[in-house]
Amino acid sequence: MLHGSGVARYLSEIPFWRPPLKSKPATTATLLVLTLFLVAAFSSSSWFHTTTSFFNTIVVSEKPKISVQKLEIPLNCTSIINQTQTCPKNYPDTFQTDQDLDSAIPNVFCPDYFRWIHEDLRPWKTTGITRDMVERAKTTATFRLVIISGKAYVEKYKDAIQTRDVFTIWGILQLLRKYPGRLPDLEIMFETEDRPVIKSSDYRGPNATGPPPLFRYCGDKETLDIVFPDWSFWGWAEINIKPWDSILKDIKQGNNRTKWIDREPYAYWKGNPFVIENRQDLLKCNVSDQQDWNAHLFIQDWISEGQQGFKQSNVADQCTYRYKIYIEGFAWSVSEKYILACDSVTLIVQPHYYDFFMRSMQPVEHYWPIRDDDKCRSLKFAVDWGNKHKKKAQEIGKAASSFMQEQLKMDYIYDYMFHLLNEYAKLLKFEPKIPEGAVELCSEVMACHAEGLEGRKKQFMMESLVKGPSTTSPCALSPPYEIGTLAAFLRRKINSVMQVKKWETGYWENLNKQ
Ligand SMILES: *[C@@H]1O[C@H](CO)[C@@H](O)[C@H](O)[C@H]1NC(C)=O
Ligand SMILES: *[C@@H]1O[C@H](CO)[C@@H](O)[C@H](O)[C@H]1NC(C)=O
Ligand SMILES: *[C@@H]1O[C@H](CO)[C@@H](O)[C@H](O)[C@H]1NC(C)=O
Ligand SMILES: *[C@@H]1O[C@H](CO)[C@@H](O)[C@H](O)[C@H]1NC(C)=O
Ligand SMILES: *[C@@H]1O[C@H](CO)[C@@H](O)[C@H](O)[C@H]1NC(C)=O
Repeated sequence: MLHGSGVARYLSEIPFWRPPLKSKPATTATLLVLTLFLVAAFSSSSWFHTTTSFFNTIVVSEKPKISVQKLEIPLNCTSIINQTQTCPKNYPDTFQTDQDLDSAIPNVFCPDYFRWIHEDLRPWKTTGITRDMVERAKTTATFRLVIISGKAYVEKYKDAIQTRDVFTIWGILQLLRKYPGRLPDLEIMFETEDRPVIKSSDYRGPNATGPPPLFRYCGDKETLDIVFPDWSFWGWAEINIKPWDSILKDIKQGNNRTKWIDREPYAYWKGNPFVIENRQDLLKCNVSDQQDWNAHLFIQDWISEGQQGFKQSNVADQCTYRYKIYIEGFAWSVSEKYILACDSVTLIVQPHYYDFFMRSMQPVEHYWPIRDDDKCRSLKFAVDWGNKHKKKAQEIGKAASSFMQEQLKMDYIYDYMFHLLNEYAKLLKFEPKIPEGAVELCSEVMACHAEGLEGRKKQFMMESLVKGPSTTSPCALSPPYEIGTLAAFLRRKINSVMQVKKWETGYWENLNKQ
């Protein structure tokens, strides 16, 4: 009944892609797509060392003839004074890159999502950031992080959930090892809780004060919190999720082992449904004797998984379905990047929050949008569509996993942090200073004697340790979006989602006619 000829015909008639910028002249749309393509192409890390079939005429630059000697500086755990681990004094405070040696070596443009850095800092663009604004962010902050002359100091205000603060600070310390001496003096307030809190509506009107700049892992339309890569890029020790670098490699191998076409032709989700209503609503779509919405849904029980040594929860082994569902938890969910890296089509239930990279991904190009008010029927249609258009479905899966492997590789995570902190520091109207009672932190102080979580804390730190100063400069940050370009980009996003809704409605009308 479900694959009746009417529906089959309907599905095969759905075109894969219609330029959604209907109200605009075609040239704008074409230009935009071309621009996006160019930016994406040039920002792709492999660009300079591979020839691509698309622009055969473009001269591909060679690998540098002379290049900087890579310097490895292991942790110095012997710098102990008075039985306390201290920060060694001899880590270099400058470094040389290939670009410094040979100015002909081009500086690669950063991926497109870096341009949101300008948008996130826009509230302070004309006013700058005063000490008063920073101090007001203290109300909810987990810690204050200060960088002065390349050294990091942390003042802690409250306990974080699990090791979120530990691995976030660890990440910033690795950034300092990667680009020593390149980060300006600064002070940031960071909150490690899930949901953004700086409501933009509180900072409107003629008498409004400037909003406090507060860093966290996600944002939404109503708030001004500044988004920063989450702790799990360096590992989530409590649930045995390794640093992102290692996971990317595992998933790449896994994707090679289990081809899309050989995967289960259903939508898969495994997670904790108890954090939010919306996820419990999703569970209603699970396959049973009475219904089949093409969805196979499972509850993740972290406690019992932990007791079994996390054998069932290796994210790299979870790429065995053609479709994988992403649904937000209490806020954005860390699971997002692991799902998108799978080569499967990611079915994203209409999200409310964004992290630092998601905003530059496009529905239908990188993922498939799922309605949040009619999840089951939406899932059913998505999977039927994909199984009918296998080539297109695979392209969507591939676009997302390539994005993860290339644009979201660890080098770019550091570059994102580098540029965000740099741009932020440019706005500071006061001189950062070391707060009283703050401690100097460095990789040695955090890692040399780290213990706990069955050794995973130390293990993940050693695994994600930056070995020494970078031999290349950070990628080049593109200027802010032109208002028109950004508007067109967002319009394209909305139009794609509306287009899918229309196809979906047509699909169900056809099905109900039979
Ligand atoms: C080591 O401890 C002693 C006694 O507490 C103290 O007098 C001395 O200043 C400390 N040295 C350093 C370098 O902190
Ligand atoms: C470790 O640090 C101490 C104190 O800064 C220094 O004296 C020592 O030479 C360092 N060891 C190495 C191997 O760099
Ligand atoms: C702004 O401040 C002025 C002077 O204190 C006051 O008269 C006015 O009502 C305030 N406006 C708003 C919108 O709060
Ligand atoms: C993918 O698998 C093939 C054989 O199945 C192997 O030859 C190749 O090296 C693998 N590639 C990667 C990147 O693992
Ligand atoms: C969903 O259905 C599958 C197959 O019947 C079952 O194994 C699984 O436990 C169900 N999930 C939930 C959350 O009930």
